[in-house]
Amino acid sequence: MLCEIFKTLRNELQFGYLKRKHPFRYCYLASACDSRPIIRTVVLRDMTKDLELIFFTDSRSQKVIQLKQNPQAEVLFYHPKKLLQIKASGNVSLLTDEEKLNYYQNKIQGPSINDYITKEPPSTPINNPDWVEYNNEEVNFCVLVLKIEALEGLQLKRPNHIRTRFKRQDSWKGEFLVP
Ligand SMILES: Cc1cc2nc3c(=O)[nH]c(=O)nc-3n(C[C@H](O)[C@H](O)[C@H](O)COP(=O)(O)O)c2cc1C
Repeated sequence: MLCEIFKTLRNELQFGYLKRKHPFRYCYLASACDSRPIIRTVVLRDMTKDLELIFFTDSRSQKVIQLKQNPQAEVLFYHPKKLLQIKASGNVSLLTDEEKLNYYQNKIQGPSINDYITKEPPSTPINNPDWVEYNNEEVNFCVLVLKIEALEGLQLKRPNHIRTRFKRQDSWKGEFLVP
């Protein structure tokens, strides 16, 4: 049964984001800064066969600064129709492989490139939201790779909720937890 649950969790993450309206397309990425938790919504762009979650961001963003200082991170997913929660935790690194970076950057469509070319870095205070300036010369695109070390599922159902945890170090063997 644990093996089946692991496959389900893995499939939901690996293929869910491909569907535009799938709730796992969006997730909540938590990092830590001086022992303070910091969380934000991000789009899941890919999950590799080796269970690495892929996110795109601006290389000047606060999350990149924080994750360079402390790479530990957790991502939360919730599927309201299936009543399924998934948590994935591990260390985040920045993708450096040029070929892979180009592959992902080519997926950015049309005006979405604006997310990576603001003249001032993300989080810079501005007086008016219409006054954001862009610099086409410099694309601050980067790819965050969260290598999942632990994956936790919580399936809400009656009579028993099913909570499970799988760890890379245990070859994803898995165990049930009290919900
Ligand atoms: C629906 C939604 C999707 C988002 N997707 C991303 C994303 O994929 N990458 C990203 O860097 N920020 C994304 N954001 C913005 C972040 O939530 C956040 O506000 C921004 O990245 C700055 O975060 P930081 O200061 O912690 O770096 C998204 C926001 C929303 C509401």
